[in-house]
Amino acid sequence: MKNPLKPIKAIIKGIRPEAEGVKTYTLSTEFPFVAEPGQFNMIGYPGVGEAPISLSAIMQVGDSTLRDGSFKHTIKSVGRVTDFLKDFKKGDELFFRGPYGRGWPVKKAEKKDVLIVAGGVGLAPLRPVIQIVLNQRESFGDVSLIYGARNEKNMLFMNEFKIWEKDISLYITVDEVSDVSKSPHPPFTKGGQGGITKEWSGGINVGLVTDLLDRVKIQPERTIAFVCGPEIMMRFVCRGLIMHGMLQSSLYVSLERRMKCGIAQCGHCQHSGLFVCKDGPVFSYKEVRGLPDGAL
Ligand SMILES: Cc1cc2nc3c(=O)[nH]c(=O)nc-3n(C[C@H](O)[C@H](O)[C@H](O)COP(=O)(O)OP(=O)(O)OC[C@H]3O[C@@H](n4cnc5c(N)ncnc54)[C@H](O)[C@@H]3O)c2cc1C
Ligand code: FES
Repeated sequence: MKNPLKPIKAIIKGIRPEAEGVKTYTLSTEFPFVAEPGQFNMIGYPGVGEAPISLSAIMQVGDSTLRDGSFKHTIKSVGRVTDFLKDFKKGDELFFRGPYGRGWPVKKAEKKDVLIVAGGVGLAPLRPVIQIVLNQRESFGDVSLIYGARNEKNMLFMNEFKIWEKDISLYITVDEVSDVSKSPHPPFTKGGQGGITKEWSGGINVGLVTDLLDRVKIQPERTIAFVCGPEIMMRFVCRGLIMHGMLQSSLYVSLERRMKCGIAQCGHCQHSGLFVCKDGPVFSYKEVRGLPDGAL
């Protein structure tokens, strides 16, 4: 019988610096890798450890770049495992187990308006949802993305915004405009007057993602929302959407908890009786709102 905890070797086919301390790794294995949007792999290296990391791109019909069955992870260096990975080069090997967990209910969103709200690295697990929407645009109603980062140095996938905005409405915001002289990107200003903002038409706002909820025309009865970011941000976004008339059961969030096994055996990720690794990481807000050891 196949050991579900045995790591599989993957080769790094490409690395793209994405934002400050964040890189996207394109990985491939001997066999085509298939996963659902919102699922994660345990990524690691022998003797170093493992960390749960969401898929930021998966093989899908119409995605020519991943036809060979490769997949992507977008990883921010924050500690032992993720710092170790940041020095890897194209051609190096790393190890993974997965895919694990329950992802975004994209099927449920078909024929509905979709509101995607992401903060910081939280856009990575939602990128496969955006890919599906772009590949099957006629299956969905109005689709909007509200994305916020601390500043533009921390913003992911900026090179894709111009393509995305052809099919979905983008609302982009930063908490602060960073020190331009240290930025890897051209500057942008409030209202989209200069620099990077010229690359997509919507411009950039300064403020929190919650400030932008009023800009989207939300029809609560026909909208489904996917929200990913720091837990406190998800709390305010979900509460804001409820104020707009949305049902708790139409809001979905992706939770982060410390993980070890990834398959509901060790108990590390338990959250008030739920296993985040197996029952989640994506939950409806109804399932997780107000649970004692969370911020939702
Ligand atoms: C389902 C899931 C999907 C994830 N997807 C991504 C992703 O796509 N990209 C990405 O960059 N990161 C993602 N993360 C977060 C990532 O797993 C952690 O950053 C990683 O485990 C840190 O491991 P480390 O060994 O590098 O750091 P460590 O040395 O373990 O810790 C570094 C610091 O981060 C804190 N920390 C570590 N893990 C967590 C956690 N899960 N929640 C809160 N604080 C934590 C520690 O307390 C410490 O302060 C995801 C987490 C989960 C649970
Ligand atoms: S990580 Fe072991 S039970 Fe979830």
